[in-house]
Amino acid sequence: MRKKTVRDIDLANKRVLVRVDFNVPLKDGRVTDDSRIRAAIPTVQYLREKDCRVILMSHLGRPKDGPDPALSLDPVAMRLAELLAIPVRKVDELSGPGVEAAVAAMQPGDVLLLENSRFDPREKKNNPELTRELARLGDVFVNDAFSAAHRAHVTTAGLATVLPAVAGFSMEKEVDALEGILADPKRPLVVVLGGAKVTDKIKVIDRFLDLADTVLVGGAMSTTFLKAKGLDTGASKVDDEGLEMAAEALKKAEASRGRLVLPEDVLVTETVEEGAGTMVVDAAAIPAGWMAVDIGPETAKAYAEYLAGAGTVFWNGPMGIFEMAAFAAGTKAVAEAMAASPATTVAGGGDSVAALNKFKLADKIDHVSMGGGASLEFIEGAELPGVATLADK
Ligand code: 3PG
Repeated sequence: MRKKTVRDIDLANKRVLVRVDFNVPLKDGRVTDDSRIRAAIPTVQYLREKDCRVILMSHLGRPKDGPDPALSLDPVAMRLAELLAIPVRKVDELSGPGVEAAVAAMQPGDVLLLENSRFDPREKKNNPELTRELARLGDVFVNDAFSAAHRAHVTTAGLATVLPAVAGFSMEKEVDALEGILADPKRPLVVVLGGAKVTDKIKVIDRFLDLADTVLVGGAMSTTFLKAKGLDTGASKVDDEGLEMAAEALKKAEASRGRLVLPEDVLVTETVEEGAGTMVVDAAAIPAGWMAVDIGPETAKAYAEYLAGAGTVFWNGPMGIFEMAAFAAGTKAVAEAMAASPATTVAGGGDSVAALNKFKLADKIDHVSMGGGASLEFIEGAELPGVATLADK
C-alpha cells in the first residue's frame, strides 16, 4: 500500500480516533454476523499495546432523521467487549461535552465507542464544524474501514484532512488484496461476476475486459446478456436498463484481452419457492413462462475448470438464488472450485461473502473483502475518499 499505516508513525500514548466499519446485521438487539468487528481487532489491539486511548467511530445502517434507537451501536459495544475481553465504554453521542468528558477520563489501553456517526446529520455532509469537534478528541486519525472508504463523510475522509491520518491493518489488507488483482496478477486472471444487475457492475465488467483473461458471468446478470444476444429468456429476471450496456460489453469483448463467458445451460423454474419444479435447459432455449434461477451443471463444471487453472481469481456476485437450497448448486460449485483452486483467491461483495459463509468456505479463500460498494468502486478505478486522504508513504 502506498499510504502510511499505523506502523509508520509514532503512536505511543496518543489519543487515537479510529474509523471502523461496524455496520453489521442485527437481530433482536444482537449482532448476527461479527466479521466486521473481528476485522478491526488487530488494529485495536496494536493501538492498546502502544498505550493509546482508542476512540472508535462507525456508522450503522442508514438512519433517516437523526437518532434511531434501533440503529444504536449498543449491541456492537457488547460484542466488541466480548471479543477484546475487556470492558468497552460506549457513549450515546458522537461529539459534545459528554464525549469530551468520557475521553478525558480514559486511561492508556482503554477503548471507547462513540454512537452511530450517522445520527448526526453533519456526518454525511462532511461538515467542517463536526470535523473540528471530533478532531479535538484525538491526536491521530486511523482509518480501518475500507468498506466505508467510498463515502466522503466526516469520519471517513474529513478527519484525515485535519489530523495526521494513516491506515489500519484491515484497510491495508483490503487495499493490498485488490491492488494485487489490478496491478500485477498471476495469470490467468479469472473473474467471476454474478448478481442481479448489469447496470450496477458495467464499469467493473468493462475494467475486467481489459485486465482479466476470462470473465465468467452468472446470476440474473447473465440473463440480461443472453437477451442482449437476441436469445429468448422466458420469464427470467432481466435488467432491461442494462440491455444496451450488455450489448456493448459483448461487442467490446470481441476485441479485448478478456473473454466474456456466458452460461451454456441454466436451471429454470416457474415459481421461485423451495420445492418448486425445476429443469435444466440450454441457455439459448429457456421456455416461455420459465425463469433462470441458477447456472446449469455443465456451466458449473466449465466454470470450475477455469477456476482450477487460474493464477488469480476474483469473485463478486452469486450464480443464482443461492439462499434457496434448490437453486444453490451453481453458486456452491463456484465457491468450492474457488476454495480448491491453487490460485490467489479474492472474494468481495456482501452476497458472495454470505454464500462463502453459508457453504463454510470463507477460510479457504485468501482474501474475503468486507467491502461491497467500496471494492467495486476501487476496481472500477475510482479514487476512494477514505483512502486518498491518508498520508502517503
Ligand atoms: C457497507 O455496508 O457497504 C458499508 O458499511 C457502507 O454502507 P453505506 O452503503 O450505507 O454507506
